[in-house]
Amino acid sequence: MDKILIRGGKSLNGTIPISGAKNAVLPILAATLLTDHKVHLGNIPHLRDVTTMMELLGQHGATLTVNERLGVEVDCSSVNNTLAPYNLVRTMRASVLVMGPLVARHGQAQISLPGGCAIGSRPINLHLRGLEAMGAEIDLSGGYVSAKASRLKGANIVFDLVTVTGTENLMMAATLAEGRTILENCACEPEVTDLANCLISLGAKIQGAGTSTILIDGVEALHGGSHNILPDRIETGTFMVAAAMTGGDLTMTGTDPRMLDAATQKLRQAGAIVEEGADWVRVIGPEHLRAVDIKTLPHPGFPTDLQAQYLAMNCVAHGAAMVTETIFENRFMHVSELQRLGADITVNGNTAMVRGMGTLRGAPVMATDLRASACLVLAGLAAEGETEINRVYHIDRGYERIEEKLKAVGANIQRIHG
Ligand code: EPU
Repeated sequence: MDKILIRGGKSLNGTIPISGAKNAVLPILAATLLTDHKVHLGNIPHLRDVTTMMELLGQHGATLTVNERLGVEVDCSSVNNTLAPYNLVRTMRASVLVMGPLVARHGQAQISLPGGCAIGSRPINLHLRGLEAMGAEIDLSGGYVSAKASRLKGANIVFDLVTVTGTENLMMAATLAEGRTILENCACEPEVTDLANCLISLGAKIQGAGTSTILIDGVEALHGGSHNILPDRIETGTFMVAAAMTGGDLTMTGTDPRMLDAATQKLRQAGAIVEEGADWVRVIGPEHLRAVDIKTLPHPGFPTDLQAQYLAMNCVAHGAAMVTETIFENRFMHVSELQRLGADITVNGNTAMVRGMGTLRGAPVMATDLRASACLVLAGLAAEGETEINRVYHIDRGYERIEEKLKAVGANIQRIHG
């Protein structure tokens, strides 16, 4: 298993190009199952989760051609298998995103039910309830959930709570349903909007994506087209924190800072200077950071996918702050690893009280999930001495060449292949 070695304490300076968004490309790849025509996707990030989703599409019978750097053409005209097997779903929960498209286009799907994961139990009951409301018959047996419908019917669906992939799954399913679907209490994440924009470019009739109510008028079929994946706001935010924590000066390019207003506001409160352009953001870290309270919320609130990184930042800041996680019930696995670096954190339920120490000291640590790994990399960059991060396969799921990007701006970081 690979590990990452970091010798911390260097300030990072320079420019980092941002990759396409993992959480946009995964639903968009799944959406190609809705059409028999070729779909060309650009700005594809090179990530393990993307490879897994491509493998899943291949297993369904799709043909994928990686035809240029960062581009892929997907042809789902010969899809003949509607089963998403355990061995793929267990490595990537987002596999569940093929369910809506498969039922809508092929009348059935059998998906291995994703179990719990490191950050919470993460059920998919709202995806299933929505498909049922659209006329699908749902069955569970042998660890697989099966959904069947000759043609889905439009329905009015109010989500009990805001779910990102739930919104995406039902929005995709509704594009080919008979009649109008109204989804309420939807996720407003930019990745939902990117998926909607891609679907619209393929002929879907969708209004309101990016707001809490989405209206979809089903069509008979979608055509082909092309779409560029939006930039990754979580990767952008992670490097913004790297600049702040190392007292550095980093400019992230090929991104969209408007997707990061809540995170930017918190960095400014912490004392960093943030400058923004249409497709770049620059962060200059202060000499001394101030600890800042964080509460995760659905977009446009503070993203849960940046909680671990900001918690790490608070560890090297001055003062005390509360970090409250409201989206997932178990997303503090990184705390005990940060404590190994000398952090002063007390967890009580869904709140972590951090007393900033001004500094951390390097140690061996273990990554437990994707964003937890990113927070450990950040902590290692700011810590004195050497930090060894084990189980970094988690980070390869969602960060493209993170060690290369950080090395290019001055980090003393290397991957040890093992
Ligand atoms: N939930 C239910 N029932 C459902 C669906 C969700 O109870 O049917 C609960 C979840 O257990 C959770 C909350 O609702 O407590 C919100 O979960 P959501 O469904 O929004 O999460 P997700 O769609 O599974 C996506 C991202 C996550 C990100 C969350 C929240 C993708 C592929 N994944 O997950 O990304 O944390 O939204 O923003 O888009 C990551 O990139 O590291 C990551 C975990």
